[in-house]
Amino acid sequence: MTNKKVKFKIYRKDPKISNDYRYDEFDVPMEEGMVVLDGVNYIVEHYDSTISVRWNCKAARCGSCAAEINGYPKLMCKTRVEQMGDVITVNPMKAFPLVKDLVTDVSINFEIDKKIPEFTPKNMGKKPWTIYDIDVNRAQEFRKCIECFLCQDTCHVVRDHNTKYIGPRHVIKAAALDMHPMDVLDRSESLTKDMGLGYCNVTKCCEEVCPEHIKITDNAIIPEKERAADNMYDPIMMLIKKLKNKSNRDKK
Ligand code: SF4
Ligand code: F3S
Ligand code: FES
Repeated sequence: MTNKKVKFKIYRKDPKISNDYRYDEFDVPMEEGMVVLDGVNYIVEHYDSTISVRWNCKAARCGSCAAEINGYPKLMCKTRVEQMGDVITVNPMKAFPLVKDLVTDVSINFEIDKKIPEFTPKNMGKKPWTIYDIDVNRAQEFRKCIECFLCQDTCHVVRDHNTKYIGPRHVIKAAALDMHPMDVLDRSESLTKDMGLGYCNVTKCCEEVCPEHIKITDNAIIPEKERAADNMYDPIMMLIKKLKNKSNRDKK
């Protein structure tokens, strides 16, 4: 323990009681290696146990402590206090409805997930599947997602514009399925026509905040956009797709 103290400003609001909000300030003793979640938990334990905060693993695995720290979307359990300066302002994620204080309702994401057509494997009869490492690795990147929804919170299309765009987290889910070597569907067209992918203007802000460093834009969004353009506007690709669909249907 050092003598140094850090000032925490914590966003407080209970929408069930009032639309007013305020920031409560607390001085928290600095400890070596301390993360923002340690500071918030210290405050709850020593000053004000009515503050609502959500966390589970404290190891950057569950995604539940996502917040906006000094204006940046980050995991509270992965953000070192010493890197954030002497005053640390903690806000809830702004893209989601507030439950209370630092806790938001992210359940809309689980509803969006249901719109993405599920894994649909080739009918191989009794033949075993042969899958190469290169294909596994390609889709595996997206499986690192911890569903913190910081990318959704950051995306200006999801956050500020009233569009039907499902958002980056959900595009990587669709891309992981599309890149699976045994999957027969192509979700790029429905991503574009029904789920608003065209509204994404590739700003890459989602990629910058991802705690798992998933290349959301380069490896999922851009390939899905390109595939959709091929499928929807390239006559040769359209013909190949038709023949492929027919042969898949015949195999069933
Ligand atoms: Fe979080 Fe990254 Fe998954 Fe988005 S893609 S939900 S930022 S882990
Ligand atoms: Fe949004 Fe990422 Fe596209 S921030 S606009 S989904 S590149
Ligand atoms: Fe699980 Fe932070 S507490 S990611």
